[in-house]
Amino acid sequence: MKLGCCYYPEHWPETLWTGDAAQMADLGLSLVRIGEFAWSRIEPEPGRYDWAWLDRAVETLRNAGLQIIMGTPTATPPKWLVDSMPDMLAIDLDGKPRKFGSRRHYCFSHKGYRAECARIVAAMAERYGEHPAIAAWQTDNEYGCHDTVLSISDAAAEGFRQWLADRYTTIAALNTAWGNVFWSMEYRDFAEIDPPFLTVTEAHPAHVLDYRRFASDEVAAFNALQVDIIRSASPGRDVLHNFMGFYNDFDHHKLSKDLDLATWDSYPLGFLEQFWFSDEEKAAYTRQGHPDIAAYHHDLYRGMCSGANARRWGVMEQQPGPVNWAKWNPAPLPGMVRLWSWEAAAHGAEFCSYFRWRQVPFAQEQMHAGLLRPDSQPAPGFDEVQQIAQELDNIDLRDNAQASVALIFSYDADWMVRTQPQGADFRYDELTFRWYSALRQLGLDVDIVSTQAPLDGYKLIVAPTLPHMDAQLIERLKELDATILFGPRTGSKSENLSIPDQHGLAFMDLHVERVESLRPGLKEGLPNSDLTVERWMEDAGNGLESNYTLADGRNLLIRQLNFHYCAGWPDNDLLRVIMRDMAVMAGLKVYDLPSALRISQRSGKIFAFNYGTEALDLSATFPQLMGTDLLIGNIILPPAGVAIWKAERDS
Ligand code: GAL
Repeated sequence: MKLGCCYYPEHWPETLWTGDAAQMADLGLSLVRIGEFAWSRIEPEPGRYDWAWLDRAVETLRNAGLQIIMGTPTATPPKWLVDSMPDMLAIDLDGKPRKFGSRRHYCFSHKGYRAECARIVAAMAERYGEHPAIAAWQTDNEYGCHDTVLSISDAAAEGFRQWLADRYTTIAALNTAWGNVFWSMEYRDFAEIDPPFLTVTEAHPAHVLDYRRFASDEVAAFNALQVDIIRSASPGRDVLHNFMGFYNDFDHHKLSKDLDLATWDSYPLGFLEQFWFSDEEKAAYTRQGHPDIAAYHHDLYRGMCSGANARRWGVMEQQPGPVNWAKWNPAPLPGMVRLWSWEAAAHGAEFCSYFRWRQVPFAQEQMHAGLLRPDSQPAPGFDEVQQIAQELDNIDLRDNAQASVALIFSYDADWMVRTQPQGADFRYDELTFRWYSALRQLGLDVDIVSTQAPLDGYKLIVAPTLPHMDAQLIERLKELDATILFGPRTGSKSENLSIPDQHGLAFMDLHVERVESLRPGLKEGLPNSDLTVERWMEDAGNGLESNYTLADGRNLLIRQLNFHYCAGWPDNDLLRVIMRDMAVMAGLKVYDLPSALRISQRSGKIFAFNYGTEALDLSATFPQLMGTDLLIGNIILPPAGVAIWKAERDS
């Protein structure tokens, strides 16, 4: 795994550049990402390019032996451009423009803006495409950041009508597919259809779902435009994008078909603070991040690219200290920057790059840590990077093999659930995370894969929910002898988000008679046990075999041959019990890890990580392990500690 950093030469006096580059190389970094927000310096006025400074920056980095990932600057269109076509601004769901003064103030559907992007990307790709220091290109920056995928601008509305006409061909077909007879919502022409927002009450769910699908396709098309230009001007270089954490507003699998590798931006402390983790979890992991946050995304993004690029991924931005954007922004526990980096290596990352080289003393992100302080003194993360840079030289990390467990992830499933949650806390990203986390607490390695991914070779396959079950996927699953587990609501909807004539899991003889959502505090338990179901429960599978039955008599875990269906949302403890059963049934070796310990098995090694604030004794979990076996670390693993030893994979 290579190490790198994000650098903004335009933020610093040129007198600092040579020293910065030399210090990066000394630290053990070999990659630098630059350029992604520099449009106003590259093209200060319409059509007047100023390449001289960027040429010198590229040369300076190259002279220090660094390789460059060049970002296209399309996340930050300059003021003159916005003023030249004010209708390029995105319009939010309340009908308000997303104005100039920060970033991402554009609508993906605006044709004029797309043409301007094509122009600036072509100019950059022609200038640097064959430069020997350019190793890769990053398109734009974090598509969707600051909630920018859904826009209801005129350009988007027009694009949506065309998208609908392509999909349904006739307006009659659309009216039938959506069920527009309800509340007299029938249309006579595609031209009559608006984006499904600003309605009096809830808009038609099929309309909302199609708008999400359309908006997602717009992001992919916007990206593909840049990729094509870069590929023709910069042969042999990787093209990547930096995706975000817990962000599902567009289909990353679809977009990634055009990329060579997927990368993501890892801010474990910010994510813990900003998302739906419980107060107990926030308190326990304030300075470490929940033990599965980074790993979940590593495994998700490892599953993005396919074919020759299968399992190619990296971390484009790694949190190096406190961030500026969460409600509270604590400092990581000493050692966490190194631990997060090792966790990326253990999941097969090609590189881990820190955001950012030096903390900037001005503008929006002045409170965000870098590897250096604004006065150029090393910040606490710096020494940890130095340590891992040395350690990496001595550990062979070549294998990035398939795991034995697959978790099927679908963006479309997320949009269905979000469009029609039925219970306020039925959240797709949390459901998939909880299922993943339960597997990881058993020491299992997991591949998070799309509904299209090859599934051969997995022993256990879990799908937390797929409201619409694709017929092809069912056929593929029926051919496998893996243990297969579906979560609640799987198969409950048609492709257009209505109730299907036949339940998607009818091949299991599954019938669902009723569903209910449970408000916080309302739980249904297993008999004589503290284990409960919360949030969601179904009356399902009457007459079928059930491995777990609630005290009220309802089936929780319905079984038919190697297929299983979980008819509710188990609490975290019950979920772990269920996953343990499934894994054992699938013939997998499981560990009962202490809550703060996680392991990964790759490259003929076990990597162990202590996400807790207390030391852990590894011999409690690995009784055979001797101190002399360890390549890195000790049997007593301190808080934020990493241990690595040679071991063949269990399963
Ligand atoms: C990312 C973004 C960076 C920077 C960083 C701060 O979301 O890509 O440009 O803003 O967050 O943590």
